[in-house]
Amino acid sequence: MIQMTRQFATAASQQSMRIKSIRKAWFSRSSLQWDGRISMVQGASRGIGLEFVKQLLERNGGNVIATCRNPLESTGLNELKAKFSDRLDILKLDITDENSIQASSNSIKEKFGHLNLLINASGVLSIPDVLHPETTLRKVEKSSLMLAYEVNAIGPILVTKIGGDTDIEGGFAVVANLSARVGSIGDNGLGGWHSYRASKTALNQLTKNLAVEFGRRKDQIVCLLLHPGTVDTDLSKPFQKNVPNGKLFTKEFSVQKLLNVIDSAKISDNGKFFAWDGQLIQW
Ligand SMILES: NC(=O)c1ccc[n+]([C@@H]2O[C@H](COP(=O)([O-])OP(=O)(O)OC[C@H]3O[C@@H](n4cnc5c(N)ncnc54)[C@H](OP(=O)(O)O)[C@@H]3O)[C@@H](O)[C@H]2O)c1
Repeated sequence: MIQMTRQFATAASQQSMRIKSIRKAWFSRSSLQWDGRISMVQGASRGIGLEFVKQLLERNGGNVIATCRNPLESTGLNELKAKFSDRLDILKLDITDENSIQASSNSIKEKFGHLNLLINASGVLSIPDVLHPETTLRKVEKSSLMLAYEVNAIGPILVTKIGGDTDIEGGFAVVANLSARVGSIGDNGLGGWHSYRASKTALNQLTKNLAVEFGRRKDQIVCLLLHPGTVDTDLSKPFQKNVPNGKLFTKEFSVQKLLNVIDSAKISDNGKFFAWDGQLIQW
């Protein structure tokens, strides 16, 4: 935990009083809305993560912290920075590097004190010459399983751990982890994609576990798992051939729908797995 300077501590305590009064109004047994002021999008260089940053900034207020591995290389983020310079902070964070997660966490706590929304959007399905979605058990390799687990399951949980290991002022109201319907065991009728599927299933269980633990805290934090649909991004490009007409979403459409799910999240939604249209997905 960072050492706060006296000045920061005073500012944080004033802010904490404001947050407490807002929380009293926002949090109740039947409903909850994150207050929209400080959001972090992890995995924001492109695709769905970048679109979340854009749509959050296009709202009337609130700060957004966008993290990615190579900030200088993300044209999309740098264009947003030029347009929303006061409300967007870009930090370097590689989800496989705990030091970089800790460094981002430190600078967020130093500048903002807390988060109201954390979206873990990073993910990996295939990497040319490194990671191939397996069509059969014969193609399963330890290195692919490990890489998919590291990026898709372990990373988001470490980000949430470092952010969530704080009191109410240092906490956040909604954690939204980007999962995938293929991570559902009950829905698995096709098989294949062993590494990706299993890593998303692991993310689901780890997030459900967090939800149970966070549910016991006084300061309620709602954890959601979100399936964005099949979205036209780099991740889905090699697999779009067989997507039925009308089922390949734009990232604009998918993120609009996912933000509706986040905006309408209630305490009773803690630990649930939702599709883009708000429908529950079986485990
Ligand atoms: N697109 C779909 O149809 C679909 C369907 C279901 C679920 N999802 C899920 O939705 C999420 C977003 O997917 P997308 O379609 O936007 O994918 P994408 O366009 O391929 O973007 C993937 C993002 O993950 C980041 N990333 C990968 N490894 C990372 C690491 N080690 N550290 C930090 N960031 C890392 C990438 O950063 P770099 O630019 O640095 O590589 C990029 O920002 C993923 O979790 C994916 O599994 C997508």
